Amino acid sequence: MSDIRWGVLGAARIARKQVIPAMRRVGAGEVVAVASASGNAEPFAAELGIARAYASYDELLADPQVDAVYIALPNVHHARWILAAARAGKHVLCEKPVVLGTAELEAVTAACADAGVQLAEAFMYRHHPQLRRLRELLDAGTIGELVSVESSFHFTLPRSEPPDIRLRPDLGGGSLRDIGCYPVDLLGWLTGAEPDDLGVVAHRDTPDGADTRMAVAARYGAVTANLHFSFDAPFRAEARLIGTAGSIELPDVFRADNRGGTARIRIDRDGETSVVEVEGDQYGEQAAAFARRVTDGAEDADGAALTARTAATLERIAAAAGLTVPASL
Ligand SMILES: NC(=O)c1ccc[n+]([C@@H]2O[C@H](COP(=O)([O-])OP(=O)(O)OC[C@H]3O[C@@H](n4cnc5c(N)ncnc54)[C@H](OP(=O)(O)O)[C@@H]3O)[C@@H](O)[C@H]2O)c1
Repeated sequence: MSDIRWGVLGAARIARKQVIPAMRRVGAGEVVAVASASGNAEPFAAELGIARAYASYDELLADPQVDAVYIALPNVHHARWILAAARAGKHVLCEKPVVLGTAELEAVTAACADAGVQLAEAFMYRHHPQLRRLRELLDAGTIGELVSVESSFHFTLPRSEPPDIRLRPDLGGGSLRDIGCYPVDLLGWLTGAEPDDLGVVAHRDTPDGADTRMAVAARYGAVTANLHFSFDAPFRAEARLIGTAGSIELPDVFRADNRGGTARIRIDRDGETSVVEVEGDQYGEQAAAFARRVTDGAEDADGAALTARTAATLERIAAAAGLTVPASL
């Protein structure tokens, strides 16, 4: 059991449903405080058994009994509150995408380094052990040289009033930043590179012009990729890797938690299909990994490099699609 004392910024759905239960499940410290700017801290704290409830994020950041914060705010608010948390000496686990561009990433990375605090982007799928197994398969030449990757993320998001934060460009919403970031991050992880070329088409069907469907074609060295995502189709979040000697399908690559944590890896080679199942608790592993870093003071150079690739690639895709970047800092 870690002795980290967590504070949560935002009485968020994802904090309630996934991240706080995961922290408790794996003993990644104690959640001691929550802050909500919209007056929801008290009921959230009561529901989840959290000792202290604050009506502002600044009050929580001033609490000396908080070591680390988990930020689950709309994307446009991430960078500002990472900076404030770093100034207050708190370690930061922040929801994906951690920033809205490379300038923000430089600012928050420098602030956290100056303050000597850890910063991690809460891309939980990176922590599922299926990725380790996948890397082993690729390194063993199971499908030969990687040729092409297709990856997608779709779910149906009702057009409600007021609109969900995901449909608000002014809050950093839109399908690219909400779900397209997963395929983009996966390609950065697989190739260790940013695309050397890319093209984008986007569809926007909200009054504010949020991107609701998008397709990206990109080349990462010798690997070509097709990435697509939308708010307009039943849930699927998957990847297919095509190599010179076979292919690998990952139908649970981003949300294995939807299947109780069990991810399937389907391998097709020489006319034969085999399926490997890998168990994991990606939200739990994410919390545990962060707690270890806080305790050890260890850097996660690979994670930081991947976050940088993803931020740079998202920025290029957003620019190619003509998306505006809302003012944040
Ligand atoms: N890793 C994952 O699996 C996953 C899944 C879903 C979402 N996320 C990420 O988590 C973050 C929050 O998503 P969510 O679905 O949990 O969001 P949410 O519950 O709709 O909102 C999160 C918090 O943001 C604040 N907020 C909401 N609307 C706002 C507005 N109009 N202006 C300013 N603040 C507002 C509220 O904080 P207060 O309580 O302080 O008012 C709210 O509690 C996003 O960055 C998203 O990308 C990650």
